Amino acid sequence: MTNKQTSASQRFLTGITTTGTPHLGNFVGSIRPSVAASKGASAESFYFLADYHALIKCDEPARIQQSTLEIAASWLAAGLDPERVTFYRQSDIPEIPELTWLLTCVTAKGVLNRAHAYKASVDKNTAAGNDPDADVSAGLFMYPVLMGADILMFKAHHVPVGRDQIQHIEMARDMAQRFNHLYGEHFVLPQALIEESVALLPGLDGRKMSKSYDNTIPLFTPREQLKKLIAGIVTDSRTPGAPKDTEGSALFQIYQAFASAQETATLRKAFAEGIAWGDAKHMLFERIDREVAPMREHYQALIGNPAKIEASLLAGADKARQLATPFMRELRQAVGLRKLAAAPAAAAKSKAAKTSEPVFKQYREADGKFHFKLLDGQGQLLLQSHGFESPKEAGKAIALLQAQGEAALATLQQSLQPVPGVTAEAIAAALHLRTSAAP
Ligand code: TRP
Repeated sequence: MTNKQTSASQRFLTGITTTGTPHLGNFVGSIRPSVAASKGASAESFYFLADYHALIKCDEPARIQQSTLEIAASWLAAGLDPERVTFYRQSDIPEIPELTWLLTCVTAKGVLNRAHAYKASVDKNTAAGNDPDADVSAGLFMYPVLMGADILMFKAHHVPVGRDQIQHIEMARDMAQRFNHLYGEHFVLPQALIEESVALLPGLDGRKMSKSYDNTIPLFTPREQLKKLIAGIVTDSRTPGAPKDTEGSALFQIYQAFASAQETATLRKAFAEGIAWGDAKHMLFERIDREVAPMREHYQALIGNPAKIEASLLAGADKARQLATPFMRELRQAVGLRKLAAAPAAAAKSKAAKTSEPVFKQYREADGKFHFKLLDGQGQLLLQSHGFESPKEAGKAIALLQAQGEAALATLQQSLQPVPGVTAEAIAAALHLRTSAAP
C-alpha cells in the first residue's frame, strides 16, 4: 500500500462548503477547535474547501469564488499554519472526482435513497403532492459519495463534523468496507468526531446561529458593524436593576464561548445584580472584539492579496496530491483499470484469485429457445440445460438449483443434458458454493 502512515499518527480531515461568509458560530464550532487541534504534536490534519460540494447548493459563480476566498482567509487569519497542516481546495485535486466514480460503483443506490438531505427533499415534495424528485439534482443525490471520496482519499481516521453529518461518515465507512472486501485492504475506515464540549452558538434571535436562519454575526465584520449587530441580540424586557437569567440568554451563551471561566463568573454575578442589557451588550462586544481584532487585521490583509491565498492553496494541493496521485494509481490497478502491457500476468492472477465463484449463464440459441449453463470458477462447464420456451422458465430452473442445490437435480432431470466427464460431486460442490453465497 502507498500512502503509509505510522500507527501512532492519527489523521483528522474536514471540509468546509464554500457557500457563505464565516460567522461567529463557525469560528467557535469549527475554526477555533480545528486550529487548536492542528497544533497538537501527533495530529496530522487535512482541511479543505469543499467547492465541488458548493456547486450542489449554489449556482452563483461569483459567490462561490468570494466564499472560497473568505473562508480560506478566515482559517489562515485564525492561525491555521499551512506548513503544519494540509490546507487545500477540493477542486484542485482531480483524483477526488475520479475516486468518486470508483466509489459510486460500490455504493448501493438504496443507501443513497436514505440519505437525510435527499430524503428531506423527497419528503417535502411528496407532502406538497409533487413528483418526489422535483428539483432534486443528481448532485444532491450523490453528495455522500463525493464526501466519501474526500475522506477515503486521505485515509482519515477522524472526521470532525456536526451531528448532521454523522450519517455521511457512516456511509463513507460502508463504501470503504465494501471496496476493501471486493478489491483488498486499501481504505482506512473513518469515524465521525463530534466535539461534545463545543457549544452551539445561538444567533441574534436566540436560535442556533446559522446562515439559513439569517441570524448570524460575520466573524470579521468591521468593529462598528459588530457593535451594531450585538446591540440587536434578543433579550427579555427586564429593566436595569432587575436580576437577569443567564439560563436561556443568547447574550450570556455567546459571552461564555469567548470568555475565561473567571470572566464568565463575573458576568453571571452582574446578571444576578441586575446589569442593564445595554451594559451587558457592551461587555460582550468588548470581549469578542478583543479576541477578533488582531485576526481581523490579518484577515483584511489576506483578503487584499488573493494571489497570496491562491499560492498557499496551490501549495496545499501539491502536498495533498503527493498522496492522492500514487494512491489513485494503486486504486486504478486494484479495480482493473490497468496498462494492457501488464495484462497477461495480471489476468492469470485475477483468475486464480477468483476460483471460488461458480456462475450461471443464460443465453438464447439459434433455435429460439432459452438455455442456461453452470460454469465453475475456472469457466469449466458443469451443467447444461435443454432449451426452454421462455427466459422465465429458464430462470425458474436456475432459481430452484440456487435454492435447493443438488436436491433440485432430480426434479430438473428432464431439463438437463449430461455433460461428459463431470462428476456429481463437482456439481454438488459448485451448487453448494452458489447456495451458500446467495444472500
Ligand atoms: N458536508 C460537509 C458539511 O456540509 C462538508 C464536507 C464536504 C465535509 N466533504 C467533507 C466534511 C469531508 C468532512 C469531511 O459540513
